Amino acid sequence: MAAQIIDGKAIAAEVRKQVAEDVKALQASHGLTPGLAVVLVGEDPASKVYVKNKAAQTVEVGMKSFEYKLSETTSEQEILDLVQKLNADPEVNGILVQLPLPKHVNAEKVLNSIDPDKDVDGFHPTNVGRLWIGERTLVPCTPTGSAILAKKVMPRLKGVNAVVIGRSNIVGKPMAALLLRESCTVTIAHSQTEDLPAVCREADLLVAAVGRPEMVKKDWIKPGAVVIDVGINRVPGENGKTKLVGDVAYAECAEVAGAITPVPGGVGPMTIACLLQNTVTAAKIQKNIKD
Ligand code: GUN
Repeated sequence: MAAQIIDGKAIAAEVRKQVAEDVKALQASHGLTPGLAVVLVGEDPASKVYVKNKAAQTVEVGMKSFEYKLSETTSEQEILDLVQKLNADPEVNGILVQLPLPKHVNAEKVLNSIDPDKDVDGFHPTNVGRLWIGERTLVPCTPTGSAILAKKVMPRLKGVNAVVIGRSNIVGKPMAALLLRESCTVTIAHSQTEDLPAVCREADLLVAAVGRPEMVKKDWIKPGAVVIDVGINRVPGENGKTKLVGDVAYAECAEVAGAITPVPGGVGPMTIACLLQNTVTAAKIQKNIKD
């Protein structure tokens, strides 16, 4: 039987609708309109598109958007000074410094200078620690979005065998932490894992976040499993054009899986929706407002 296709575009729209309602409720109860500041350094074309989409969607859900576009040659100190200014600005509840940063800038130093309570990316070591010990915190957006998609087709995650392929700080590790919080039995697999296909075949829930085009094949999938594909890889397509593919060989895996996310249109649209959600959470954390 063909897999159910998990429609990330539609589910992201539902999340944004909920965020817009949360913003209205915060305005009514506390006179508070959350604000998100995005810092873009340089001219990376993909980053420019992301930042433009982020700003448009921030305004669409009724929040304040602050954009800082700095030249490629901006010094590390100038970026650190800007972050300090945003940390101190009460109108700014969330700060996102778009990656990648130019080579002459120490990205870790910049990210670690963001006030953890405004760190809507959830990358700050304080937030990483809070996530693993189960405290209320800001969780990285892509894993959050992936977990929402998985729950749509697998509402009860308790006891489920979950395999995450990839151990990055941005996706693999926080994904594993989130699934553990949902009481899954979690395996983190990676490039050094022995017999990766056999490990994946044990998964009721498989999350692929390795950045290798179409690496996961049909015979890696347990029949009926839920497959969440975090990969976004640009590869040569037809007529000299390029196309986007995930880390999962979609067409063949869809023949075996119970449910699967497409690329594009799966995890991708969830990331910005979860960023907006995090900005509301950040505003509530800062004002000590319970969920
Ligand atoms: N560049 C691409 N994706 C992201 C993201 O989720 N956060 C930041 N800060 N930069 C990115």
